Amino acid sequence: MDVFVKVWDPLVRVLHWSLASVVLANFVNEGGDPLHNWLGYAALLLIGMRLVWGFIGTPHARFSDWVRGPRAVAQYLRARRSGRSHRQLGHNPAAGVMMLVLLIGVILVSISGWLQTTDRFFGAAWLETLHEVCAYAVLTLVGIHVLAAISESIHYRENLVASMLHGRKRRLDSAPAQQQLTE
Ligand code: HEM
Ligand code: HEM
Repeated sequence: MDVFVKVWDPLVRVLHWSLASVVLANFVNEGGDPLHNWLGYAALLLIGMRLVWGFIGTPHARFSDWVRGPRAVAQYLRARRSGRSHRQLGHNPAAGVMMLVLLIGVILVSISGWLQTTDRFFGAAWLETLHEVCAYAVLTLVGIHVLAAISESIHYRENLVASMLHGRKRRLDSAPAQQQLTE
C-alpha cells in the first residue's frame, strides 16, 4: 500500500508559491512604480482564484476542511502544547487561522496600495501609512508562518514545505504517524 496520499492539488501549490513570490517581490521593489502596482494586482487575482477554489476545489483545498471555530483552534493549541495533538492531512485549526489572516492581510495591503492611485485618495498620507503598516504586518506574519511550518514539520516529522511543493503527505495510518499520535 502506498504510504503517501495526495493532499495539495496543483492549483493550491501553484497559487501558494506564486502568491509568496509576488508578495515578497514587492518588498524588494518597494514604492508605487508600475511593476510594484501590477504585482500587487497579481496578488489580488491569485487570492481571488484561491477564494473560489476554497468553495469548489479538491477536498483539502476547501475552506470547509480547515476553517474552524475558536473552540477547535483553542483545543488544538492546548493539545499541541501538552504533546497530545494529532497530525492532520489538511491545515490544522491553528494553521487555518494563519492562512485566513495572511490572505486578508495581503488583500488589505493591495487595496490600500490601489486606493493611492485613485483621484479621490491620491496623495493621502494616512493611506500611505496604512499601506506601509499593513505591508510590514504581513511580512512579520509571513516570518511567523514560516517558523510555524518548520516547527510543525519537526514536531510531526513531516516536511510540510516539501509537501507544499510535491503535494503529498504520509497517510494518517502509516507507521510513523501512529508513533506520533501516541507521543
Ligand atoms: C508572502 C509569503 C507567503 C504567503 C502570503 C503565504 C500564504 C500561505 C497561505 C494562504 C497558505 C494556505 C495554502 C492554501 O490552502 O492555499 C500557506 C500554506 C503554507 N505555506 Fe505559505 N505563504 C507565504 C510564504 C511561505 C514560505 C516562504 C514558506 C516556506 C518556506 C511557506 C510554507 C507554507 C506551508 C508549508 C504551507 C502549508 C502548511 C500546512 O501544511 O498546513 N509559505 N501559505
Ligand atoms: C502584494 C501587495 C503589496 C505589497 C506587499 C506592497 C508593499 C509595499 C511596501 C513595503 C512599500 C514601501 C512602504 C514604505 O516603506 O514607505 C510600498 C509602497 C507603495 N506601494 Fe505597495 N505593496 C503592495 C501592493 C501595492 C499596490 C496594488 C499598489 C497600487 C496599485 C501599491 C502602491 C504603492 C505605492 C504608491 C507606494 C509608495 C507610497 C507608500 O509608501 O505608500 N502597492 N508597498
